[in-house]
Amino acid sequence: MRKKIIAANWKMNMTCNEAESFLDTFLREVGQEDHVEIVIIPPFTAIAKVSERLGKVQNVKVGAQNMSAQKSGAFTGEISAAMLRELFVRYVVLGHSERRTLFGETDEVVNKKAHAAHEASLKPIVCIGETLEQRDAGKVETVLETQIRGSLAGLSAKELVETVIAYEPVWAIGTGRTASPEQAQQAHAFIRKTLAAISDQSTADKIRIQYGGSVKPENTTSLMSQPDIDGALVGGASLDPRGFAEIVKNSSVD
Ligand code: 13P
Repeated sequence: MRKKIIAANWKMNMTCNEAESFLDTFLREVGQEDHVEIVIIPPFTAIAKVSERLGKVQNVKVGAQNMSAQKSGAFTGEISAAMLRELFVRYVVLGHSERRTLFGETDEVVNKKAHAAHEASLKPIVCIGETLEQRDAGKVETVLETQIRGSLAGLSAKELVETVIAYEPVWAIGTGRTASPEQAQQAHAFIRKTLAAISDQSTADKIRIQYGGSVKPENTTSLMSQPDIDGALVGGASLDPRGFAEIVKNSSVD
């Protein structure tokens, strides 16, 4: 009942020209895949180009990698939800671990942005995940619970259903080291349990939880076959149009 959602987080990669040539190949390779929802998340500068190119392509949506919690005003260098909406952006990644570590984003900031996103009818993809140090110290559940409660505070059940959670263990991002399907499933089941605790079971059962961290064509099927894994947030491997099309196809497991 939860449609899988496979997203390409291009991070700070892809000029407009590169994005166009990616889409030419990707759309040809992926064909009419409609069991899975696909989201392309370019850097801000390529969003307009990607949106224009995807205008008539159903089932491939556009996302952004970040946004401001503010509506408008003197915030040099920031981008608002309304600016993204104008470019037909549907999803926005919030609290990616790179934003948390390199740019000091806290759960409180992510929470403000999540509220601002919903107000503008943008669906947030809220990222959470533990570091290796936290995992080794046996703190996975405490860390995830704190991030969930902090980042999603005050969202209504309706807003939660329109929110995607991305579980991205920091030690698996860009390292080639993927969580095993069992490790990921265990974390996802805990995340769903916590989502039920902050809302109710039927709401939690509708929320999609993506896995992210060294997802590749070869490990997609085993991860996506897990009962609580509802998609993937793909970094490095999403820069190759053929590989990303393969990931999408390998996700269509149920
Ligand atoms: P990699 O797929 O490169 O490990 O990156 C994961 C990620 O951070 C997606 O948001």
